[in-house]
Amino acid sequence: MTGALAGKRVVITGAAGALGGAIAARFAAEGAEALSLVDRDADGLGEVAARLRANSSSSVNVREHVVDVTDHDAVLHTYDTLATELGGIDVSVNNAGILATSARIHNVDPADFRKVLDINVMGIFNTMKASIIAMRGADGGSVINTASVAGFTNWTHNSPYGTSKAAIIQLTKIAASEYARDNIRVNCVSPGTFITSLHDEVPPGAMDSVLDRHPLGRFGEADEIAAAYVYLASDQTTWMTGSNIVIDGGMSVGQ
Ligand SMILES: NC(=O)c1ccc[n+]([C@@H]2O[C@H](COP(=O)([O-])OP(=O)(O)OC[C@H]3O[C@@H](n4cnc5c(N)ncnc54)[C@H](O)[C@@H]3O)[C@@H](O)[C@H]2O)c1
Repeated sequence: MTGALAGKRVVITGAAGALGGAIAARFAAEGAEALSLVDRDADGLGEVAARLRANSSSSVNVREHVVDVTDHDAVLHTYDTLATELGGIDVSVNNAGILATSARIHNVDPADFRKVLDINVMGIFNTMKASIIAMRGADGGSVINTASVAGFTNWTHNSPYGTSKAAIIQLTKIAASEYARDNIRVNCVSPGTFITSLHDEVPPGAMDSVLDRHPLGRFGEADEIAAAYVYLASDQTTWMTGSNIVIDGGMSVGQ
């Protein structure tokens, strides 16, 4: 198979979701050798895997792993097993995440805040750690974390989410520095808004004001974000680490 990702063995979390599924489809089209799909949603995972296998133009080896990324031991065991079976992990996409209930700080339930930190920050810590362990024992690799414009703009009414995404950007920089000499590149992607199940609970009307903040005048599509993951996973970015690629329809620049 030819393509920008020929021969790459990849693991993607949040793979049952909109962005994870779009990344998996792009990676398959770019010739990835193996795609290990991780999510806690078994049905969604099955649907994404079935779509990938049905695409006869790709010969990618698709594997499904129903794992909750907050479960440290289960994550380490899963990544260790798949690295052994595939002979290594070249690319790790740490993408599973949730949004908090919309509220200003004085109305935020602490349990809600902790849940978001647990999935969005500890989940990424767990899967980064597991893939870095596998990559350190080999020739290195590319780690790609999903952050958000909410991690560095004044994204109100969702303090747990914005806080978690700021932590991911910083965790990316620290890991980039810690593992550069192991030839492990660590970067993140910060999308603006593209409509997915993440927004099911957002109050009516709120999405209109979110849309107003995107100068290009429309929400993005998951596939427009996924292109950045191909770039970061490929050998075109071998001198790139600690970076945050922003794809947001101009949102963070402002009107
Ligand atoms: N949609 C947007 O506008 C937007 C913008 C910026 C960043 N993001 C980020 O993109 C990533 C993907 O979001 P999406 O929009 O595709 O949403 P999505 O809801 O379609 O996908 C998220 C996936 O993560 C999985 N997940 C959640 N908690 C998990 C856990 N504990 N263990 C394993 N899997 C878990 C879900 O089952 C789901 O399949 C998230 O990190 C999100 O914060 C999204």
